Amino acid sequence: MNSLLKVSLQIGVSSLRVNAKRQIACLASLPETHQMLQKTLKDFADAELKPLAGKHDKEHLYPAQQIRKMGELGVMGITMPEKLGGSGLDYLAYAIAMEEISRGCASSGVIMSVNNSLFLGPLLAYGNEKQKQTYIPPFTAGERVGFFALSEPGNGSDAGAASTVATDHGDHYVLNGTKMWITSGYEAEAGIVFATTQKSLKHKGISAFIVPKNIKGFSLGKKEDKLGIRASSTCQLIFEDCVIPKENLLGDPGYGFKIAMQSLDAGRIGVAGQALGIAQASLEVACEYAQKRNAFGKPISKLQAIQQKLADMALRVEAARLLTWRAAWLKDNKKSFSKEAAMAKLAASEAATYCSHQCIQVLGGMGYVTDMPAERHYRDARITEIYEGTSEIQRLVIAGAVLKEMETN
Ligand code: CAA
Repeated sequence: MNSLLKVSLQIGVSSLRVNAKRQIACLASLPETHQMLQKTLKDFADAELKPLAGKHDKEHLYPAQQIRKMGELGVMGITMPEKLGGSGLDYLAYAIAMEEISRGCASSGVIMSVNNSLFLGPLLAYGNEKQKQTYIPPFTAGERVGFFALSEPGNGSDAGAASTVATDHGDHYVLNGTKMWITSGYEAEAGIVFATTQKSLKHKGISAFIVPKNIKGFSLGKKEDKLGIRASSTCQLIFEDCVIPKENLLGDPGYGFKIAMQSLDAGRIGVAGQALGIAQASLEVACEYAQKRNAFGKPISKLQAIQQKLADMALRVEAARLLTWRAAWLKDNKKSFSKEAAMAKLAASEAATYCSHQCIQVLGGMGYVTDMPAERHYRDARITEIYEGTSEIQRLVIAGAVLKEMETN
């Protein structure tokens, strides 16, 4: 919090270069702290992330320096308490920060979101005092990042079907299995791993473990070559007779599935923020280009065909932003938010896909080449409909909640 405010004052709120319409729509109802955060991060993204996002993507380079600076700004542990090295802000702040960071670089966005909601989040919610003191502060500064290992080669959407096994040996567990699709797996120093401790109990037999990287029996597997978010790593993690001390069990034995589901509910607000950032960036690229590019004797922004596209893009961005902020508000106010987080992620990721598609359409050939960021936004958008629960899974969560509400009303 302090570092964020300090940086806000250093940068100066007057340097904010937001489109006036967007300011009215987005800032008017936000508390002052959140407005300041938004302005600070917008300027940071324009100055430090945007200029290098294309190069990092092309060369598959982890943005280490940028993540460190994000740590200095206080966004790598944004909802963590100040006494544990965090910024002590709420989930609304997190959603806003995720949008602004991802507007500059969606790869930095996913590194930030996994560290915040999928690594630090469960540690804060379920860790004992020693676990919190050991694992939270070092991971809030941007020097170290964490991972979340739930999916496996044989299961993704069916998260309860984990085949990684943790066998109880009295004072320790022995972990065996392979995890897949692990964001930041290559760079992370520790993570949360879900494994079956009692197979007969199905999802009720899954437990969560805190696993540091340098532990014997833990190695990195295949690094994926991806369509988008290529500056973040995604890889397999292999556990072969990996000895995990009992003190590394997170929460009670058999509580792992609930920990995973609750972490993903919060994570979906982060992914919604990331998708919003990609959608907003696409809208900005399309507007800027349409105002400069002439056809039929005038800027193409004056053509109704282009205006229809810009209107549809803006509509989807604003609608998804409201859903995202609502989900964050519900979480901040300790109300149930699982359905709303799923709605936010679904709407924002589909808005990102739609807006990045339309952006290329507005730019024509220039949208298809790497000279412009439009094609990167298009590639980056795609994963937001897949990770932390596909769009189909979000619809299942939403429908399940709606039907339950109907039954109880
Ligand atoms: N919060 C708390 N508890 C929950 C919950 C939630 N959101 N959702 C379900 N549960 C509980 C249920 O109440 C139930 O509890 P009881 O057994 O005590 O009654 C239990 O979990 C089982 O519930 P379901 O029968 O509904 O579970 P299911 O097996 O049918 O699965 C699902 C539900 C929604 C499909 C779930 O499996 C799911 O979300 N799948 C998607 C997983 C996912 O998002 N994976 C992405 C991994 S992370 C990633 O992408 C990589 C990365 O690095 C970014």
